[in-house]
Amino acid sequence: MNKILITGSSGQIGSELVGLLRSKYGNDQVVALDNRKSGDAEVVDVTDVDALGEVFNKHSIGTVYHLAGLLSATGEKNPSLAWNVNLNGLKNILDLSLAHKADKVFWPSSIAAFGPSTQKKMAPQDARTNPSTMYGVTKVAGELLCDYYHTRYGLDVRSVRYPGLISHATEPGGGTTDYAVTMFYEALQKRRYTCFVKPTTVLPMMYMDDAIRATLGIMDADADRIKVHTSYNLAGLSFSAEELAAAIGRRLSGFMCEYAPDFRQQIADSWPESIDDHQARADWGWKPKYDLDALVDTMLSALSKKLHIPLV
Ligand code: SER
Repeated sequence: MNKILITGSSGQIGSELVGLLRSKYGNDQVVALDNRKSGDAEVVDVTDVDALGEVFNKHSIGTVYHLAGLLSATGEKNPSLAWNVNLNGLKNILDLSLAHKADKVFWPSSIAAFGPSTQKKMAPQDARTNPSTMYGVTKVAGELLCDYYHTRYGLDVRSVRYPGLISHATEPGGGTTDYAVTMFYEALQKRRYTCFVKPTTVLPMMYMDDAIRATLGIMDADADRIKVHTSYNLAGLSFSAEELAAAIGRRLSGFMCEYAPDFRQQIADSWPESIDDHQARADWGWKPKYDLDALVDTMLSALSKKLHIPLV
């Protein structure tokens, strides 16, 4: 069997996907790759096409989950780095996948592909994409690049526009929607959180289990069911910062959330509040499972175990 390569293997999605795919296919079948040393991961920067090529040469790679990338807030601090890692990294992966005849490539886009003039509620699949962050620019350009490699070279690249992802395995990683992940940590550790977006800020979000199911769902679908070769809209749930704080407060006595919006407010305001994902549902059977109560219960119980802090 050709091996599976996962880049960004110690990131938010990668750290969960590596374990899952290894338990399904065996440790040797899944090659982890990250720019930081972590477990048995190949330590390679995805902008280094030669080093990346050696990994493709060493292992017989048939499927790639290319997850390495900078998120929105980190990207605004260093736009050139975001461009280089997010776009040149993607192009390196697409070129090597073609050269090594990989069967399938997964690459994540994001709600950040949208911008201030995108329809705010239920942003449609073909909504206007005019991002105001470098991260969003790399997502729109990346979507077009994936579509180009599919049309021009027949490469089977599949993609979804993830909402803000909420999970407990890794620490928050420089995204704007990460306010929600940080809120869980601080609620448990300090019973207080100063939130960097306004209480009324509503964003599309998704619990990690749903995100992983979507990822495997689109990758397992027969090729003829994939009709969108840029990136599929994907929705889980939408909530405001104050709705999340209230849901945590109902489960954790004495939790106080304050609000001190910073530069990330403008990023959050540029994104839609909710997403119309009917095409993903129709084409490859996508359906989310987690609502706000299920998400908050699961996050608090997992983090309480991880941080050894009882839920009272
Ligand atoms: N979660 C990402 C971010 O906030 C959006 O895709 O940067």
